[in-house]
Amino acid sequence: MAYQNLLSEVKENILYVTINREKALNALNKDTLAELADVIAFAAKTDEVRGVILTGAGEKAFVAGADIKEFSDYSGQQGQELAKHGHDLVFNAIENSPKPFIAAINGFALGGGLELAMACHMRIASDNAKLGLPEVTLGLIPGYGGTQRLTQLVGKGKAIEMITTASMITAVDAEKIGLVNYVVPQMDLISKAQEILNVIKQRAPLAVAAAIKSVVASLNETDGYVVEIEEFGKCFETEDFKEGVSAFVEKRRATFIGK
Ligand code: CAA
Repeated sequence: MAYQNLLSEVKENILYVTINREKALNALNKDTLAELADVIAFAAKTDEVRGVILTGAGEKAFVAGADIKEFSDYSGQQGQELAKHGHDLVFNAIENSPKPFIAAINGFALGGGLELAMACHMRIASDNAKLGLPEVTLGLIPGYGGTQRLTQLVGKGKAIEMITTASMITAVDAEKIGLVNYVVPQMDLISKAQEILNVIKQRAPLAVAAAIKSVVASLNETDGYVVEIEEFGKCFETEDFKEGVSAFVEKRRATFIGK
């Protein structure tokens, strides 16, 4: 499979997917999301694929979020559509895949990047990784399932702290609160993910798929995702969103007015 923004190959029944926009810290633009949707569908329907390892190109970032430059002039309606499209095509598609997905977090996993890792069934972080949901610094909230999946993984208190402070946490702290399964040196990241998938490969594929489906079914609060999409869209109508995004692009600190 040849993609513009992804590298992908199947080796020994594992599909390796690397988001390959290193200069933009692998930020998720529309084209990358479309390609991800395609490769996720391929994994689901291809018997040869028994598990997927998803990572980012380079040593600095897994994914630094949704592509801020792409949505800087969006209306509320466009913001909602962006979120809904992402949920349906990529984030829910990963979570509902019959194949186990492991996020190999090789650096920054921020905003949509952490949301992507949280949609995966397991997360392994390299010891240099930093994780966070900085959307409120842009006048936004997480729009790709982060409010729901972070709460599921770490509980309400930690989730609200991380989302409202927008602070990044280290890989070690992420492991302590259950946000990642393991922390390893960066050079061991892929081999740790392979180790887990090599065990799963020996198990019954239909039972593995049924187990994933059952665990995920226990967690999904559909209403929560609907609220998140609506609120995400509303943020795009605020002055603070325009200020937050301008400040990011102009590389300065944002001044928010609460409107
Ligand atoms: N979107 C678009 N471009 C991005 C990006 C993003 N999310 N993150 C980084 N980049 C770009 C930068 O603009 C920069 O490009 P230029 O060289 O053309 O200026 C390049 O990647 C390198 O980034 P920095 O120079 O900023 O690198 P740094 O080492 O100084 O900082 C960082 C690294 C702390 C990760 C910083 O890049 C950053 O804060 N990025 C944004 C993180 C963020 O806010 N993510 C949330 C996005 S919104 C979202 O995801 C919404 C949602 O839930 C759906």
